[in-house]
Parts: sequence; C-alpha cells; structure tokens
Amino acid sequence: MKVNITETVLRDANQSLIATRMPFEDFESILEKIDNAGYYSIECWGGATFDSCLRYLSEDPWERLRKIKEKVKNTKLQMLLRGQNILGYKHYPDDVVRKFVEYSIKNGMDIIRIFDALNDFRNIEVAMEETLKWGGHAQGAICYTTSPIHNLESYAKLGKQLEEMGANSICIKDMAGIMDPKDAYEIFKALKETVKIPLILHTHSTTGLGPMTYLKAIEAGCSGIDTAISTFSGGTSQPATETMNFAIKRLGYETDLKEEVLKEINDFFKPIKERFLEEGVLNPYVMGTETDALTYQIPGGMLSNLISQLKQQNALDRLDEVLQETPRVRADLGYPPLVTPMSQMVGVQAATNVLLGERYKSVSKEVKAYFKGEYGKAPGELNQDLAKQVLGDEEPITGRFADTLEPAFEKTKKELGSMAQSDEDVLSYIAFPQIAEKFFKEREERKAATVTYSIRKV
Ligand code: CO
Repeated sequence: MKVNITETVLRDANQSLIATRMPFEDFESILEKIDNAGYYSIECWGGATFDSCLRYLSEDPWERLRKIKEKVKNTKLQMLLRGQNILGYKHYPDDVVRKFVEYSIKNGMDIIRIFDALNDFRNIEVAMEETLKWGGHAQGAICYTTSPIHNLESYAKLGKQLEEMGANSICIKDMAGIMDPKDAYEIFKALKETVKIPLILHTHSTTGLGPMTYLKAIEAGCSGIDTAISTFSGGTSQPATETMNFAIKRLGYETDLKEEVLKEINDFFKPIKERFLEEGVLNPYVMGTETDALTYQIPGGMLSNLISQLKQQNALDRLDEVLQETPRVRADLGYPPLVTPMSQMVGVQAATNVLLGERYKSVSKEVKAYFKGEYGKAPGELNQDLAKQVLGDEEPITGRFADTLEPAFEKTKKELGSMAQSDEDVLSYIAFPQIAEKFFKEREERKAATVTYSIRKV
C-alpha cells in the first residue's frame, strides 16, 4: 500500500511555530526542490497565510500563490479553507465564497481542504460544490474531538455525508494533536468500512502522540498524512517528514519521497529556523511536548489562553475550578469541537462563570449568537433552559445562516472602484477590509517610488 505525504512547512508548520511569518523570498529558491521530492501535495496557502501576507509581510497573497505555482509544476498545491468563513471566523455570503474558491483555483490551487468548526456541513457545501465546478480536488474535513456524543458511528456518518456531497477525499483534522493511536485505528477502520474515497489524517505533535497515531491510522487504511520537514517539525507543528517516511517504509508501505532531496530541503530550512529563533519569533517552548492537554482533554492552545486570561485578572488560583467548569459549559453548548472560535467561546464563558460566582450571570455576545444558530448547528443538544435564558423571546435560526446574508461581491467591487485592481483585490478586501486597504495604499506608494526612481535614473 502506498502512503501519500503532504508537506506542511509552508503553511501549518509555518503557522504553528512562527505565527506564519515566513516571507515568500525565504522559500522561493527551494520550491523546485520541494516540487521534485515526491510529495503528494504541498500545503502552502489558506489558513492564516492570507492574513499574514497582507498584515505583516506586505505581500499580495494571490501573487504569492501564482509565484509558487510558477515553480511547482508537478506537485499539487493544497490549501485550508474554513468553509463559509473562508479564512476568518464570520460567515460570508455564498457569492463571496464561490468567487474565493473560483479565484483560488484559477490562481493555481489544486486541493482545497474544507472544514467547519461545528462539522455542520451546510457550511461547507457551497465551497465544495464550487471547488468541483472549477475542476479542483474537494477534500472534506471532519474536526476531531472527544465527547459523550462523538463516537465511531458519528464519525462514520460524517464521512458518509461528505462522500455523498461529492468529496474527492476525507481528512480527519486533529488540530490539537489529542487523537490517540487506539482511537485513530478504530475511527479509520470504521471510515474505511463506510466510504470508498481516500482517507487522510492531519494531526500535530503537541502532545507527542502524533507519530504513533499516524502509524495506527495507516494500519487501519488511512492513505495520506501531513508532515513537516524535520527542522520545522515537532511540538505544535506536525511530526517530521523524514521520520515518518523512514518508519512507514520500514513497515513495508511505499511512499514516493526521495530521501536525498528531503535532506537538501531540510538543510535549506535550518538557517531560516535559526534566524527566527534569534529574532525571538520562534519560541523554543512551542517545539516541546505538552501533555497537560491529555489530562484536561482540552487543546494545548486553549489551556494557555485560559491561564493567561486568569493571570490578567489575578485569578490564577481559580484555574482548577475553571478547568472543571469547562466541560460543563461545553456540554451546555452541545459539545462543539474545541477549535477556534469555539475553544475561546467555551473557555471565556467557563472563566466568567467561575469568577462571577454564578453560572451564566453574564453571557458573551458570541455565546448568544451561537445559541441563535449563527454559527450553525451544534453537534449535540443545547441546554434548553439556558437557551431560553439567553434568547428570551428571540427565535433561533434553524436554517443556514448564510441564507440570511445579501450577496456582497459586486457591491463591494463597485464601492472600491479603482482601489481594487482585480477581483482578487476585492476578495482580499472582503476578507480583511482594514488590512487590505492599508496594503493597497502601500502598494501604490511602492509603485510611485519605483516610477520616480526609474525616471531619475534616466
Ligand atoms: Co493543523
């Protein structure tokens, strides 16, 4: 059996270890090598890369994608898309989602991994349909979590749903690195018996379970894993590409990876990592193993958020109470996966409940919107008494929230006028209005500076 390997150094590893601060010029000269290493795909766009390009790196994310595509001619490019939220956390109207997918593919994207924080697939169906329409590979993703209502049957059911929606493959997305080898084996076995399309596992090394979990998933029929070249692997990033490749081959599976090319790629990234360490962008702490997430059954990132939140309020001594309250709040909310923004929503509410000495005395506007159905349908039952208290006489939305939104693309395009030089600019603006506007202005200034300079030279 062959195992496909997706390299994450340009997206998830970059995002998890150095807050997506790697500029294009850092990796431009290694792209051809990466292209010839034998990867199944290169995850290089989407997630936080888009925001980071505009906000910190003064790069046009669309141009970055086109430049990557120019150098990567054999290997598929892959991106992460948050369904109806595109790359952020609010819901966008369908016309915007469609345009975003269309232009992603037209600019060079091949595989779009699409997920929704609540696994409410009404929030990914439009992106998936559009991906297929433009000839892209639509990978449906299921956010992995544990709870009394999440079991083998529920995962198999979600997998079946994705297959019926036309997904070309299915990814189980363990964003916190909490899936253990036993669960991996059982879930992939159940999925393998239920669907025919390829199964992929995405995990992180955060808790140290990653490599073991990958091996057991492969044993049960998972045919694709995400890894990061070793220099940028481990900790909150993915398990190392070279290590996984070595172990998989020793166990008798095939991969297309060429070890000598992997070594060249790794050597290339070593000084880049050194630079980020020296600059303090890479905190060595995130490269270690963090097992508290296993004890508390919550993602490591959520735990550190809770701690810093309590510290700010001089209430770190209440941490144990908050950690006991967290699963109760999650149960009241119908067991959402603890992925952004749900992890923050649940964490903040649990802390508020403890610190105010009365549960739900104060409810955040996010939790209210959640009960109104603006994020989608909760995986389990909502606490009905709490729903009544939060909503009062307001009726929750039971349909798709995006159906209540007016089309926005053409209208925004008109409003932007000459500020947007392309449809891609319009999409950048819709996704991140203030940052995009600032970026457009800087781009104009740079252009003007270049013109003056060349005139003087003449
Ligand atoms: Co990830």
